Amino acid sequence: MAFPESFLQELKMRNDITEIVTSYVTLKRRGRNMVGLCPFHGEKTPSFNVYTENGSFYCFGCGAGGDVITFIMRIENLDYVDAVKYLAQRAGMELPENSYDDSLSRLRNRVFEANRTAARFYFDALYSQTGRAGLDYFHSRGLSDRTIRRFGLGFADDDWTSLCKYMRSKGFKDSELVAANLAVQRKNGNGIYDRFTNRVMFPIIDLRGNVIAFGGRIMTDEKPKYLNTSDTPVFKKSANLFSLNNAKNSGTRTLILCEGYMDVISVNQAGFANAVATLGTALTSEQAVLMKRYADEVIICYDADEAGQKATARAIPILRNAGLLIRVLNIPNGKDPDEFIRSHGADGSAAFKAVIEKSGNDVEYRLQKLRLANNVETTDGKVAYLEAAAKVVAEISSPIERDVYASKICAELAIDKNSFMRQLENISKRRYREGAKKQARKIQTDLSGRNDKINSEHYKKPRSSSAEEALVVYMINNPDSAEEIASHLKPEQFQNSLIRRYYEYFLGRIQSGYEPLTNIAADFTQDEASKLFQLLSQSVAAASTHSAMMEYIKVISEESRKPSSEDVASMSPQELSDYLEMIRKNKR
Ligand code: GTP
Ligand code: MN
Repeated sequence: MAFPESFLQELKMRNDITEIVTSYVTLKRRGRNMVGLCPFHGEKTPSFNVYTENGSFYCFGCGAGGDVITFIMRIENLDYVDAVKYLAQRAGMELPENSYDDSLSRLRNRVFEANRTAARFYFDALYSQTGRAGLDYFHSRGLSDRTIRRFGLGFADDDWTSLCKYMRSKGFKDSELVAANLAVQRKNGNGIYDRFTNRVMFPIIDLRGNVIAFGGRIMTDEKPKYLNTSDTPVFKKSANLFSLNNAKNSGTRTLILCEGYMDVISVNQAGFANAVATLGTALTSEQAVLMKRYADEVIICYDADEAGQKATARAIPILRNAGLLIRVLNIPNGKDPDEFIRSHGADGSAAFKAVIEKSGNDVEYRLQKLRLANNVETTDGKVAYLEAAAKVVAEISSPIERDVYASKICAELAIDKNSFMRQLENISKRRYREGAKKQARKIQTDLSGRNDKINSEHYKKPRSSSAEEALVVYMINNPDSAEEIASHLKPEQFQNSLIRRYYEYFLGRIQSGYEPLTNIAADFTQDEASKLFQLLSQSVAAASTHSAMMEYIKVISEESRKPSSEDVASMSPQELSDYLEMIRKNKR
């Protein structure tokens, strides 16, 4: 049983898409639409459109599209049912009686509950006799009890079944524990055992306060040092950040990006609540876009070792593409933030603050790296440095800032600024040409539909597909025309199976007296919904008159009478000559 139509209609009426989107994205009016920077991919110029008229959104940059329910599903990382519940709650609406709670949504809730119960169990263990080793470990690493409580840290003992036993006594099923990745199935199929044993535990908490996963650190030099929850129905490693729940409320729009759990916690204890870390993997653009929602600036604070420097170089373009300002922290003596703070004892906080204040932006950081990599005392080294430095400076978009760096570099090496500026100009011109070429190529492939995975048939049958797409869009925008269209065309006449599905679906809804778009989020996958809203948002340019509609119908009928190339190949000589005769007649 799905949600009743009338409920969904009211839900959408009470949750205006512009209002909802505005709480995540700054929107500006452009013509009849609102536009802003897409929250689903990194971009610097807005291509994310909100259409108030039909309550939809579409991003021309990444192709994400949908209605208000889809938007909440994507941005809050919820499934359909939970997104509906979220919007109902926001609008103060009661959920209808026995509206469905599908099994995935139920499982997700059980996983959340299991994680919360387990976090409590690990925390209690830390302060019991069994957890002595864990508590000593945290204390030895300089954490106070207050910090331990604030992060809800815990301890998993070495018994292999103690969590499973406890969770069963609280009513959790084995299958739920495995789904939460709190337990693992034995290889021989005989029962389950605890995923985390003999480790200190770090719960990972999402922005709504749910425990979504754990990291566990072994207390010796054994490997693996850290073990993290694998992806589960409530956790995607690449889309979450450790301690963003704390950082979000830190009252600044700057985030400190660290490498690991312990760094984040130490930095917090030193008085900076705005630290976050990725969860044992390299930074993703998804995480950068997430940061951009809560911050304008990120201070990269990775280890000073080689791996940390490589990670810094990788992170810079990812953060910049998400529209974030970047600073890079240089921690002296090859320490990580945690070690640095602790090595200063009671002055840790002040010392860390001083390093933050000294941290340069990413341009300074990169210039400094280049300077160290080249021996500017030699002519070759000097030339190499200047060429590489020009490339870095040419990336700066503000002309004033570019000029400041150019002056600084030229003064340092005592060279003529004019020639350096000319070098910059050449690089910019070349980049611009390359960018334009790349963009043109992308537009060409996009237009050809060759890369369109969802609507791949468009490329094979462009003429019929274009007409079918235009007709479906026309019908959605003009539901009154549905009967007339249906009298001319049967679904079987649609060549493109995706568009045929849209046609049957919307015709069915209109004939049953429903609004066409109310239930998209439940009835189509996110990709199919995105495709649909792409077609709808492109239709602004397409003709939407009755005569255009008749033209689409004519093309579709014609195309549906054309046999496919396979059909032609299998025709008898008589059939083939009849067919050629027919084409000749049609041409006249
Ligand atoms: P401490 O040694 O406890 O101070 O941790 P650290 O954060 O200094 O460790 P390190 O710099 O080695 O690792 C940084 C982050 O990478 C950790 O917080 C983990 O998230 C992740 N990580 C480190 N070792 C492992 C590992 O063996 N397995 C996995 N999956 N992740 C790891
Ligand atoms: Mn460390």
